Amino acid sequence: MQAISTGIKGLDFILNGGFAKGATVIVEGQPGTGKTTLGMQFLYHGAKYQGESGIYITFEELPEQIYADMLQFGWDIKQLEAEGKLRVLCISPDVLMEQMIEPNGLFEQIIRQMNCKRIVIDSISLFKYVVAFAQSIRPTIYRLRNILRKFSLTALLIREQTEEEGAFPPFENYVFDGVIRLKLKPYMETYRIRTLEVLKMRGRQITEGEHAYRITNEGIYLLPARSMVGDYAYVQRNEYTPTGIDKLDEMLGGGIAAGTIYLLDTNSKANYKYIVAAILASRLNIGENLVAMISSLNTAFTFNELMRMFDINAEEVIARKGLYFIEHYNRSYPDMYLPFVLDASKLTIENYKEWLVEQLGQLIRQRENKAENWFLYYDLNTIIAEHGKDYVKKYFAEETALARTRGITVIVLCNFAEIGEEMASYLQRTVNGVIRTWVDGSYQYLQVTKSANGKISEPMLVENISQKPFIRLL
Ligand SMILES: Nc1ncnc2c1ncn2[C@@H]1O[C@H](COP(=O)(O)OP(=O)(O)OP(=O)(O)O)[C@@H](O)[C@H]1O
Ligand SMILES: [Mg+2]
Repeated sequence: MQAISTGIKGLDFILNGGFAKGATVIVEGQPGTGKTTLGMQFLYHGAKYQGESGIYITFEELPEQIYADMLQFGWDIKQLEAEGKLRVLCISPDVLMEQMIEPNGLFEQIIRQMNCKRIVIDSISLFKYVVAFAQSIRPTIYRLRNILRKFSLTALLIREQTEEEGAFPPFENYVFDGVIRLKLKPYMETYRIRTLEVLKMRGRQITEGEHAYRITNEGIYLLPARSMVGDYAYVQRNEYTPTGIDKLDEMLGGGIAAGTIYLLDTNSKANYKYIVAAILASRLNIGENLVAMISSLNTAFTFNELMRMFDINAEEVIARKGLYFIEHYNRSYPDMYLPFVLDASKLTIENYKEWLVEQLGQLIRQRENKAENWFLYYDLNTIIAEHGKDYVKKYFAEETALARTRGITVIVLCNFAEIGEEMASYLQRTVNGVIRTWVDGSYQYLQVTKSANGKISEPMLVENISQKPFIRLL
C-alpha cells in the first residue's frame, strides 16, 4: 500500500511511511493542541513538495486569519492558491454536505478541476448541527465517508475533543480508517508537553505509544518515543552482527555492532541462556573468535551442548583456535581443550586484572596480522562472586576501555538487582548497550534500554519456541 507523507518526519516514521493512500483519518484533540496546524502542514507539504493538490475546508474561521497564522510557519498559502495547488474553502457544514452529495456539485467540480488528492475538514464536530435535533448523525458520517472514498482522497477530519467525552469513543472513530489523538499534558508540575498517539490506523504498521511533539517556527516537529542519543562514536566498524533474534536485531539497527560493549541484565528467574547462545553462535558463525567465561552454573560441556543447539560444533571451533574459556573454578577439561583454557582460579584480586589484560593481549597480538575479530563473553556475576564488587568498581571501566581499543566486542552478563542501584547505574553508563530480561508474574520480558544506535524498545514478551533461536519476542 502506497504511503502518503504526512509532512511531519517523525509522524511518517511512526506510521511506517505515512498515511495509506486514500485513507480517512480523524485528528482529535482539545482546543489549542495543534489540529489545524497538523492539517495545514499535511496539505502544504503535499501541494508544495509532493505534487498533490489539496483543499482545506473550514466552517468557522475567516481565510485571512488562517493565511496569517500559517505564514508564521513560513507557509504561503495564498501563493499556493494562486498556483492552483491549494484551496481554502470557508463554507457552512450544511452547504458542504449539500454540495458533496450532489452529482457534479461544487465539491466534485473543484476536485476534478484541481486534480485534488488531499483534503482536510476543520472540523467535523460541527456536522452535528447539520442534522435536525434528535436525528442521528450516522447517515451524514456514512455519506461523507463514501464521497471521500469515491474520489480516493487522503483525508484528515479534525474533531474537537471535549473534556467530558470520557472513555466512550464517538461513532466516527469506528467508521473511519484512522484516529490520531493530540494531547497537552501536564509535565513536572509547571510544564506541559504535547503528545501524539495513533489510536488506530488500518493497514499500517505503527509505532505504539505517546510521542512528544513541539510546535516550532516550521510547524509541528515530532520526536518518536524511545529515540535517544546514539553512541555512534563507538560503533567503530559500522558492522552489525545479527543476533538471530529478529525483533532484537530490528531494535539494534541490525544486531550488535562490532567493537561495542553490551550488558545483559537478567534476574534469577529469567532464562537468558538462549539470548546469550544466539549472540555467541552468530559471532562464531561469521568466523569471529570467542573468549567465554564459564560461570559456576555452567561447564564447558553444557556450553558446548548449548552451542550444538545453534548448529555450532565447539570442538571444530577449538580446532581452528577460535574458542577459549576463562575458568574461575579449577574444574577439569578434556585434554584437547587444555591449551584453550585460561585458568583464573588461582589468582588473587590484585593480579586478576593484569592477568586478564595479559592473556587477552597475548591472544590477539599473536594473530593480529590475520585481522581476526574477537568477542568476549564476560560474566560479572562470577567476577563479583570471586573478587567482590570492589573489583568491578575499580576495574570495569578500565577493562571496557581496553576492549574498545583492541576492537573486541563484549557482552557482559550481570544482575542489577543483586549488585545494587548505584553499581547498576555506573555499569549502564560505561557500556554502549543494555538488554534487560526479567520475569514478572507468568511472563518473561525483554527490553533494550540502551543501544549504540540510540533506539530503546518497549518491554517485549519472550515466548519459548522449539526451533532456533528458541525464543521469540512479541
Ligand atoms: N511558532 C510557534 N511556536 C510555538 N507555538 C506556536 C507557534 N505558532 C502557534 N503556536 C501554538 O500552536 C497552537 C495553535 O495550534 P492550532 O491552532 O493548530 O490548534 P487547534 O488544535 O487547531 O486549536 P483549536 O481547537 O482552537 O482550533 C496555539 O496554542 C499556538 O500558541
Ligand atoms: Mg483549529
